[in-house]
Amino acid sequence: MQCGLRCAGLELIATAMNYTLRFGVYLVLIDGALQGGVTAGSIAQYVSSVMLLLTAAIGLVRAVQLLVMNNAYTERFFSYFDIPNPMYHGTLSVEKREDNDYSIEFRDVSFRYPNADAYALRHVSLKLRIGEKMAVVGMNGSGKTTFIKLLCRLYDPTEGVILLNGVDIRKYSYAEYLSLFSVVFQDFRLFAFSLGQNVAAGAAYDRQRAVSCLDEAGLRDRLTRLPAGLDTALYHDFDPNGVAISGGEAQKIAIARALYKNAPFIVLDEPTAALDPVSEYEVYRKFSEISGGKTVIYISHRLASCRFCDDILVFHEGSIVQHGAHEALLAQAGGKYAELWNAQAQYYTESPADR
Ligand SMILES: Nc1ncnc2c1ncn2[C@@H]1O[C@H](COP(=O)(O)OP(=O)(O)O)[C@@H](O)[C@H]1O
Ligand SMILES: [Mg+2]
Repeated sequence: MQCGLRCAGLELIATAMNYTLRFGVYLVLIDGALQGGVTAGSIAQYVSSVMLLLTAAIGLVRAVQLLVMNNAYTERFFSYFDIPNPMYHGTLSVEKREDNDYSIEFRDVSFRYPNADAYALRHVSLKLRIGEKMAVVGMNGSGKTTFIKLLCRLYDPTEGVILLNGVDIRKYSYAEYLSLFSVVFQDFRLFAFSLGQNVAAGAAYDRQRAVSCLDEAGLRDRLTRLPAGLDTALYHDFDPNGVAISGGEAQKIAIARALYKNAPFIVLDEPTAALDPVSEYEVYRKFSEISGGKTVIYISHRLASCRFCDDILVFHEGSIVQHGAHEALLAQAGGKYAELWNAQAQYYTESPADR
């Protein structure tokens, strides 16, 4: 802890002050009594008033101690918020479309992480249209998450350009552009707030909508069993009546959160990586039923989870090496898709009892 020494110093001062003053008061009073100037009755009176004064003084020192301690925390907090964002933020409004007819295009995009030598993405070109069920598959480290980070403008491309309805995404207001995407990353986080606030990712929210999203995510039964419904706190950090939730339930809450945002593009970036391959497939498949007319991008290193998608992008070493529907990709002998599929086939040929 940053204030460790300072706080220990203040604590020491408070304790030393306490004992020195007590000792001093008794000395003065004993001396006064010996001289005959202080009566036994006034000793009690003096002692209690000095103790009151002491208690107040100690309270003051403790308050200063807390101030110093919290200052150390807030300093960190504000230094984080003060980190300048060098990214260019445009001012163009994103057109609000009832029909959600947005198109996104990657035009020869390459990307290298700051301070990295190798490119994480190389010459990626593709078009996303609303309503498509698209999949991004490939081995770990092939660039799938990086592709999504660029799509959501967490980074800008090192080369090339990303266009929304034909306009460079850098020209749009950042907040408005972000409102188009709802992403569940592999390392999503839930907070020790109420279930409803977790679904809405905010303090004030539409209860009806939160319930229907939880319902669609498959948590209806769990919700009815919770002591305070949507107001039940997750975990015990802030509320002793909070509930523990399993990994599978956490994923469903994260999916409900993705639905609640009601964005035209939803991305599931392996939030199900902790599940076995067959369960992941079931979650993805179910999601495709509830996602309506939205564009959903399913990401997985397990090809079978995404085989129902109309359009599958195969990433390898930062590039799109194949593109198409499952059957067509599988038919391309010697292709990366067929190679990965055959390597992973063992997961799906085992009987359920073996899993
Ligand atoms: N923050 C980062 N800094 C530097 N390199 C990174 C960072 N994140 C990912 N990479 C590298 O970029 C490549 C692609 O990673 P990633 O997009 O996470 O792959 P995937 O999601 O397909 O597993 C990998 O080589 C990885 O090591
Ligand atoms: Mg990833």
